[in-house]
Amino acid sequence: MERLDKVLSNSGYGSRKDVKKLVKSGKIEVDGIKVKNSDVQVDIEKNKILVNGEQIVYKKYVYYLMNKPDGVVSATFDNYDKTVIDLLSEFDASFAPFPVGRLDKDTVGLLILTNDGELNHRLISPKWHVDKVYYAEIDKAVEEDDIAAFKQGIELDDGYKCKPAVLEIIESDNNGAKVKVTIQEGKFHQVKRMFIARGKKVVYLKRVKFGKISLGEDLAEGEYRELSEAELEILKQV
Ligand code: URA
Repeated sequence: MERLDKVLSNSGYGSRKDVKKLVKSGKIEVDGIKVKNSDVQVDIEKNKILVNGEQIVYKKYVYYLMNKPDGVVSATFDNYDKTVIDLLSEFDASFAPFPVGRLDKDTVGLLILTNDGELNHRLISPKWHVDKVYYAEIDKAVEEDDIAAFKQGIELDDGYKCKPAVLEIIESDNNGAKVKVTIQEGKFHQVKRMFIARGKKVVYLKRVKFGKISLGEDLAEGEYRELSEAELEILKQV
């Protein structure tokens, strides 16, 4: 059971404040009875809810794919910085989504946001081995022995030994390198710390793939869209 105003808000009829007005105006019917009280509890599976005579389409879960920009934190609230939630429209934010895992403030790229706690749990659990692919720019040349060290498992500054990771060199010379890194874990600053362990610095980091979902070219930094049904099916297959 959920409050009528929440259900209406989650069905595209505006903020809680907007829907309260709508309910008061007498335009809502629940099982054929006019309802003027927003606090009323409804069962979206059983009750037939009409707005102006039209049956509502209720969404419980939302799944967004965002191209996270630089300078924004992967959190639902922050005292100082703009969060990824601040980039959502009021309606999309009304579902109370949260980021699946975290990207650093200066990392850009693919971030999934959802209010589906169960899927979130599976996607971030190390048990499910979800591949995360990053494009990175490094301040120094990257060599074959770095690839071998990543494959072996890098030891981080706190003594943690990372699981084997795949490092691929796109280009590399004495001025620096462009690489692709695939990891299955999500330790704090993991990719940056893996390179620090090799005496190198990540100067640009972008996540391009999460599980089987790719960022693609359609979203500019700061933009987001809902996952398609097909993408959601793929994501749920982890
Ligand atoms: N590794 C990092 O160092 N930072 C990120 O944001 C993600 C992976």
